[in-house]
Amino acid sequence: MNDIIIRRETKKDERAVEELTREAFWNVYKPGADEHYYVHMMRNHPDFIPELDYVIEHEGRIVAMIMYTKAWLEDETGYRKEIVSCGPICVAPEYQRQKLGKLLLETTFDIARKMGYDVNVNLGNPGNYVSRGFVSCKKKNVSFISGGNYPTALLVAELVPGALDGRAWTYIPSTAADCCEDAAAVEAFDADFPPKEKKWMPSQEEFYIYSHSSITR
Ligand SMILES: CC(C)(COP(=O)(O)OP(=O)(O)OC[C@H]1O[C@@H](n2cnc3c(N)ncnc32)[C@H](O)[C@@H]1OP(=O)(O)O)[C@@H](O)C(=O)NCCC(=O)NCCS
Repeated sequence: MNDIIIRRETKKDERAVEELTREAFWNVYKPGADEHYYVHMMRNHPDFIPELDYVIEHEGRIVAMIMYTKAWLEDETGYRKEIVSCGPICVAPEYQRQKLGKLLLETTFDIARKMGYDVNVNLGNPGNYVSRGFVSCKKKNVSFISGGNYPTALLVAELVPGALDGRAWTYIPSTAADCCEDAAAVEAFDADFPPKEKKWMPSQEEFYIYSHSSITR
């Protein structure tokens, strides 16, 4: 796609980005979605990184978005390294699989690198990320805070090769997504959008498998 603009999100884009996020995530990981509420709340969270909040515009419409929060890796001595965590990222359904997701990730990787970050850790569907350089957390010795294990969905990208030197790290995510645990708040926020049918989709089972399994060897 040639006639697209990739740029920072502005105040004026906020509602359009929330509508896009709702549309792109609806029924993908669960019946309905809460990512649009997460986006709404994240902008005011202290871990939100505005410099990495990007959108893609096509013919005056926002068709893709990405946001980031700070996160941390802690080693066995208690040393904490600040890193970035991408997500949500989404592309309008009719624009998917045309490399807009790739463009958003690669553009923001460059900016994060210039800001001094060298690692990006993300919980997501591996199929969406492995071609962007993410590998299993097990390969980088990064375990998850709850349970000290290596979830299949926990993915690590070194923005600077060799940034992780093999020592054992524990991933400490931002608390920004905790807002979505308040189901009543999510519902109340969603009520301000046009009604949309919640239903089961096979991708929800795929996500269940990824998010409930671990790499053991
Ligand atoms: C996931 C998402 C952001 C990817 O963006 P996209 O613009 O559709 O993806 P891209 O065209 O940039 O392709 C990214 C990778 O997806 C895979 N991919 C592309 N086309 C594919 C297809 N037809 N079938 C399966 N995988 C495909 C490839 O691995 C591709 O990388 P590569 O071709 O460079 O090796 C987008 O599909 C989306 O919004 N999905 C719904 C919301 C979501 O799931 N967000 C991610 C949360 S984990």
